Amino acid sequence: MKKITLSATLAAGLAIFAGSASAQVDLDAVLNVEGMDITTRAPAADFLDIDEVISGWVYRTKETQALQMDDFENPGMIFVDIAMDDWNTVDGSEGKSCASCHTDGPAEFAGLRAEMPRWNEEKGSLFNMEDYINLMRVEYMGAEPLKWAKPRMDAMVALISLQSRGDTINVAIDGPVSDIWEQGQELYFTRVGQLDMSCANCHEDSYGLMIRADRLSQGQSNGFPTYRLKNAKLNSIQARFKGCMSNIRAEPYAIGSEEFRALELYVASRGNGLSVEGPSVRN
Ligand code: HEC
Ligand code: HEC
Repeated sequence: MKKITLSATLAAGLAIFAGSASAQVDLDAVLNVEGMDITTRAPAADFLDIDEVISGWVYRTKETQALQMDDFENPGMIFVDIAMDDWNTVDGSEGKSCASCHTDGPAEFAGLRAEMPRWNEEKGSLFNMEDYINLMRVEYMGAEPLKWAKPRMDAMVALISLQSRGDTINVAIDGPVSDIWEQGQELYFTRVGQLDMSCANCHEDSYGLMIRADRLSQGQSNGFPTYRLKNAKLNSIQARFKGCMSNIRAEPYAIGSEEFRALELYVASRGNGLSVEGPSVRN
């Protein structure tokens, strides 16, 4: 397990980070959604060099934080409603909707989001939520697969994720996924792009600092899909990876590629101990 940890010296040389680490961040802010306190700080897993894992919610402004605490204010919930209509809509050659088979509704999937991505024994591959949705559509409904990182898919992922809100992230990194996890870790620490930076340079070495007008978080994925005020829609985990890679002027991997799947697994496991927040609100 080789780690290419690089201090933030290079980035500091580029003078893109600024500000004191904690001046305007209230690490003790409490995320309470619909009467439920959600864990936003937890001891970090042994494989991490940081002591504590912290939800991206903590680093947002009070205004953005408030949007996530009220389901009527949270714009991400509109897309959950849209997905619920989709859930009940018949599609494909078999004349079925999701509801035809999952008769107890999406609540049947409580806990699932906290374990994703995970190994699918039958298919012999790493599955994330999009894979389940398309497996159902193609093999059980005779319908077209949905495109990843598009509104209809992101909304369905949000509907299923919501059923696990508040559950503790517990992503397995051993057994059949261990090689993929190692690959994800490698990618996380590999410097890429014109700025020659790794994910870790920003999200492990520099969280809490300002970068342009944004405050860096640990880049956790527990809040996804995320409603971003910037683009006024839900954003998938891999779409966010793509954005971060573009920002450092690297050629992003393709959505759904082996690289992004491995990275998604590694990033998800970094959040073990935090709570599922999706759909979260970020800027
Ligand atoms: C024809 C029946 C049928 C339809 C229609 C169907 N499912 Fe499923 N679904 C199943 C069965 C059976 C399983 C368990 C076996 C498996 O995972 O292949 C399952 C498993 C799942 C799982 C994984 C649950 C877990 O805990 O492992 C998810 C998520 C899911 N379905 C979502 C959906 C969604 C979303 C739709 C609509 C787009 C849908 N299903 C449509 C029958 C169906
Ligand atoms: C130049 C610094 C930089 C680099 C390098 C970078 N990011 Fe980011 N990332 C950001 C900023 C800024 C944000 C938005 C503020 C925040 O949540 O940190 C962000 C947000 C995120 C988020 C969303 C966090 C949340 O709570 O919503 C994830 C996930 C993420 N990044 C993953 C990655 C991954 C994976 C890589 C490597 C491929 C990466 N980032 C590389 C700057 C960076």
